[in-house]
This record gives sequence, C-alpha cells and structure tokens, in this order.
Amino acid sequence: MPPADAFGVYVHWPFCLSKCPYCDFNSHVRHAAIDEDRYVRAFAAEIAATAERVPGRTVSTIFFGGGTPSLMQPATVGAILDCVGQHWDVAPDVEVTLEANPTSVEATRFRGYRAAGVNRVSLGVQALDDAALAALGRLHSSKEALDAVAIARSVFDRYSFDLIYARPEQTPDAWRAELEQALGEAAEHLSLYQLTIEADTPFWALRAAGKLVTPDDDTGRALYDTTQEVCAARGLPAYEISNHARRGAECRHNLVYWRGHEYAGIGPGAHGRLEIDGTRHATATEKRPEAWLMRVEANRHGLVTDDVLTRSERADELLLMGLRLAEGIDLARFEAIAARPLDPVRIAALREHGLIATDASGRLRVTPEGFPVLDAVVADLAA
Ligand SMILES: C[S@@+](CC[C@H](N)C(=O)[O-])C[C@H]1O[C@@H](n2cnc3c(N)ncnc32)[C@H](O)[C@@H]1O
Ligand code: SF4
Repeated sequence: MPPADAFGVYVHWPFCLSKCPYCDFNSHVRHAAIDEDRYVRAFAAEIAATAERVPGRTVSTIFFGGGTPSLMQPATVGAILDCVGQHWDVAPDVEVTLEANPTSVEATRFRGYRAAGVNRVSLGVQALDDAALAALGRLHSSKEALDAVAIARSVFDRYSFDLIYARPEQTPDAWRAELEQALGEAAEHLSLYQLTIEADTPFWALRAAGKLVTPDDDTGRALYDTTQEVCAARGLPAYEISNHARRGAECRHNLVYWRGHEYAGIGPGAHGRLEIDGTRHATATEKRPEAWLMRVEANRHGLVTDDVLTRSERADELLLMGLRLAEGIDLARFEAIAARPLDPVRIAALREHGLIATDASGRLRVTPEGFPVLDAVVADLAA
C-alpha cells in the first residue's frame, strides 16, 4: 500500500544564463542551444522508471527547480507535466511551482506556463538595491526584478520571491527599509535567506582573500531579528527558518521535505525519498547534465545513489528537517521511526535554556530564541 501522505515530484532544470558567484546549486552555463526535446524524452523516461518503483501514488505537489527553470519553453514544462499525469494520479488541487529568474520573465512566457499547468511561481529577486545586485553578480536590476514580480502577480494567483540578506556591509536599518519595500510587493509568501558563503564558490575565494567581508555574528543576529519582527508585524510570520507566509499559503512542496514525506527527484542532480517495500530509499541522480542524459538514455534513469536509510538515519533526518518548521515535530512519530524516544535529559536541558518547547499535543518545537542556534539544537538532540 502506498503511504497516504503527500507525494511530491521535484524536477531539476540545471541551466542558467550565468553562474552567480555565491551559488553552489547544480547549475551550469552552456553557450550552445539546449536540445529541450532530448531532455523531455529523458525526463519522460526517468518519470516512467521512477513510477514503476513507486506506483499508485497521488501527486500533491510538483516543483520545477534549478538552475533556472524559466529558461525552459512552456511546451517543455507542459510535456513534463503530461508525463507525470500519465504515470501517477494527480490531485485535483495539485500545487505546481516553477522557479523563475527575473532576467527570463516575460508575460507571454508566464501565460504559457500557466496554460501548461503551473499555478505558482517563485522568483529570484535577491535584493532591491542595484549595487547589491551587481555585487551578487545578478544580471537584472531592482526595477527589472519588480517588473517581473508585477508580471507574476498579473498571471498567477500564487507567487513568492526570494531575497538574500546578511550581504556585505548590509546594516539592519538598510535591510529593514528593503524588507518593508519587499513586503509591499509580496502577496502571501517570501523566502528570506541569509547569505551563505559556500565552499568552492568565487565568494569563498574572495572572503579567504579578505576581499569580501560578511556581517559579524552580532550584526547577523540583528539582521535575523529584524527579519522576524518586520515580517510578523506584516502578517507573514516564519513557518520555516527562512520562509514566511500568511496562514495557509505555505509552499506545500517544501513542506513535503520538511515534514519528511515522500518525493521523487527527476532530472540531473535531483534527490528523492521513496518508500519501497516498507523501507525508505534516499536517491540521487548524476549531476552533470550531459552525463545524466547519457545514463538515462542507456538505463531509463540517472540514479547514482539509491540507499536504504536505517531507522536512526530516518530519525535524524526528521529532526534536521522537521525542527526547521515553526510547528516542530511530533514526538510519537519520532519514536515510531527511531524505535526509541528522544533523550529526556537533553530535552529538559534545552527546554531549561529556553531553546525548545514541548506541548500537550506531543509536539516538540524550537523557540524563537532557539532558531538562531538551530544547528546546535539539532546536533544536541540528534547526538
Ligand atoms: C536554486 S536558486 C533558484 C532561483 C533562480 N535560479 C535565481 O537565482 O533567481 C534558489 C534560491 O536560493 C538562494 N540562494 C542560492 N545560493 C545562496 C547562498 N549562497 N546564500 C543564500 N541564499 C542562496 C537564492 O535566494 C535563490 O533564489
Ligand atoms: S541564477 Fe540561480 S541557480 Fe543560477 S547560478 Fe544564479 S543563483 Fe544559482
């Protein structure tokens, strides 16, 4: 019997017009045209092969992530959605999100995505300050980003956009003003990420050379606190450490990950979590687009990882993902997965420090004081 919970399908489009110097996502720049028909055939094959492993599911969410999925032709998106519908049932209220980069947003193209079945877009605005956008290596201005938001608003009932904060030299006052402006443009959802300096990116090298200075811990904390305060006051509290929404407007696809439900990962470098014969498989596909294509053309799938997770790995994952959510985790579910309870001594100590709270319904959640040190809280509970 397939699990009754939500089932998500993640589709990765691995191409971008240029590589941003902070980004370590699986994204690649190609100067020759991409043969989208060939990719559609490969996506179709991988969807079919995955559906053979996890048949009978009802798809509740689909997410086109990248890379820059808004570089795909609407017909490509439509063909992939048709293929999902040929192999699984699709819920009548399915959420279909597509990530878009403001550089590639046009009204006609957006209407094409809507006609193909997309019903939510997530735009990578990143900043509403032209100097900051240039420093982030973005190809768009803040006006172009706001124009893209206006197009999203006119075409889709549901849209979100991303901003990156804790940028070099950013002050809490400047961020407050920028965030207020962003909230004036937002509808129901915003993703607000603290800039992370990822290994092996140009930003990593610049920081190592002393040419890029990110805010110190105190400023970082003040920027985080400003984010929580301003968003909560405007009716978009954090439902996840970096995601803010009006009640009921959460990204249902990302909730699939954070609540530990099942999802299929399709496309180069996509990760999945599949329930097969009562065990949970962690899957990942070949990251390099051309190598993925060749694998799929030879084997009908691009899997390079297909590991059965142990109970304790699953339990750790539930903590790592679930505690990012304001709603926290269900302790009984943790116990059922781990076959042991969480250590009551550690729970008591963290509660005494005001970092976590438990409630009568049996949930454990991180408090507003605990979120800025979430990694340490999770490490302590998982140990
Ligand atoms: C995979 S990107 C896709 C969006 C789209 N390609 C774009 O850049 O507009 C998803 C989001 O992750 C965030 N992100 C990527 N790298 C980051 C980093 N190093 N630190 C913080 N946020 C980051 C950005 O806000 C970005 O919009
Ligand atoms: S456009 Fe988005 S996915 Fe592509 S390199 Fe920039 S941040 Fe990464």
